[in-house]
Amino acid sequence: MLQALGINMVIVGPNLQKEKDCETILRSLPNWFGIEESIQMYVRDSALVPSFGFESGSTLSGFISLKEHFPRAWEVHCIAVQATDRNGGVGSELLNHAELWLASKGVRFLQIKTIADTSADPFYAETREFYLRRGYEPIEVFPELWGPTNPALQLVKVLKLPNKRLQSDAAQPRT
Ligand SMILES: CC(C)(COP(=O)(O)OP(=O)(O)OC[C@H]1O[C@@H](n2cnc3c(N)ncnc32)[C@H](O)[C@@H]1OP(=O)(O)O)[C@@H](O)C(=O)NCCC(=O)NCCS
Repeated sequence: MLQALGINMVIVGPNLQKEKDCETILRSLPNWFGIEESIQMYVRDSALVPSFGFESGSTLSGFISLKEHFPRAWEVHCIAVQATDRNGGVGSELLNHAELWLASKGVRFLQIKTIADTSADPFYAETREFYLRRGYEPIEVFPELWGPTNPALQLVKVLKLPNKRLQSDAAQPRT
């Protein structure tokens, strides 16, 4: 865990009201977030839907926003880490935290949509690798969902029930 490094790092949320910081992060990643309308939507949504931020000192290094489709099926709406902080464990911490938070609310399925490998984009190849290594399973490609140049890959992870629920389930009498 990054906290074990002893530096003042903390995850804040789910009521994240840090639109300016989220905007700075998204604008540091032009190879992923290049459409002005989408940037503004993700910035706005970071204050509207459950979102967590990773703070290092007083600086926000990354954030994740989550969207509910059904009570037990949610989606990662947006995840981004400041360009200079990528590959340091921040994205993993945020995703892990979001998964635990959702599981504690009884959520079973967390999906993510990203650019599919039928696109030659090298940057999204890194993004797919990140999700695959964190246990997300590719489910389906939607070639037209985001338009013909941005094929969408849907990935899903089944979230583990928190221990408390497992214990109480185990305590139920068998019929
Ligand atoms: C995708 C993204 C959110 C991942 O966040 P990240 O902080 O860069 O990812 P992490 O650092 O947690 O993990 C990446 C690699 O860093 C290394 N890493 C992980 N934890 C680490 C730690 N504590 N210390 C040092 N390195 C670490 C690992 O090599 C890891 O890769 P692996 O576990 O697959 O080998 C981020 O790179 C990003 O913002 N990408 C651009 C935007 C984007 O793709 N958004 C999603 C659109 S769908």
